[in-house]
Amino acid sequence: MPEQRERIIAANWKMNKTLHEGLALLVELNILLSNKPTQHTVVVAPPYIHLQSAVHAVADTGIKVAAQNCHQAPDGAYTGEISADMLQSVGAEYVILGHSERRQYFGETDELVAEKIKTATDNNLKVIYCCGESLEQREAGSHFELVKQQITTAVEGFQPNIIKDVVIAYEPVWAIGTGLTASPEQAQEMHAFIRETMAGIFGSEIADSTPILYGGSMKPANAAALLSQPDVDGGLIGGASLVAQDFFDIIHS
Ligand code: 13P
Repeated sequence: MPEQRERIIAANWKMNKTLHEGLALLVELNILLSNKPTQHTVVVAPPYIHLQSAVHAVADTGIKVAAQNCHQAPDGAYTGEISADMLQSVGAEYVILGHSERRQYFGETDELVAEKIKTATDNNLKVIYCCGESLEQREAGSHFELVKQQITTAVEGFQPNIIKDVVIAYEPVWAIGTGLTASPEQAQEMHAFIRETMAGIFGSEIADSTPILYGGSMKPANAAALLSQPDVDGGLIGGASLVAQDFFDIIHS
């Protein structure tokens, strides 16, 4: 039942916003939300370098802060990388893992992401695990198989106490940043399938309590229809999250 599940609206800023711009966005969002609060969990994922400032900027507002990635190793000689422990130490509560841009541009595989999920949850971070098919895979009719594979490889080895800290985001690659959106029916169909896949691995109690977010060109104009689907428990928003009013309007869709 969706009403029993946590609803999460998360902003993935990707590689956008200077520190000054990012803090201005958070100030604006804070003002909008203090005038019209929400019951949903609101998460913002700025670039690493702004995390600590963002944590301070949203202190006492209820907004949570996420990182966009972390390294799989607990620490060590990995120049330029950031560990889960470091994220935790600056006050991040969530980390996005397995985003399709990480898979596409940085060669991340399901197996690598599974390692990252382990390290993140070992460090008390909640994970937003992204999955989703490319246009070719959808056109070839292999999208269900692909998403099942992504889910299975990333999470099946974990105990239920770890899985309770994992949120899934279904982000069809063809809808990310393209202006194309999955129809509410397409989103519902895949979300129900993901829940069924989770039930097959962990049982229905865990599957029914796992929030499954939709991501891919979600905007104020299409958010209500997507978010009203029974298995769509929130959104992971890129472009529209860079404008405070748009993100706020999605939160209140
Ligand atoms: P857009 O909302 O810009 O399509 O991005 C979605 C996304 O990738 C969120 O992680």
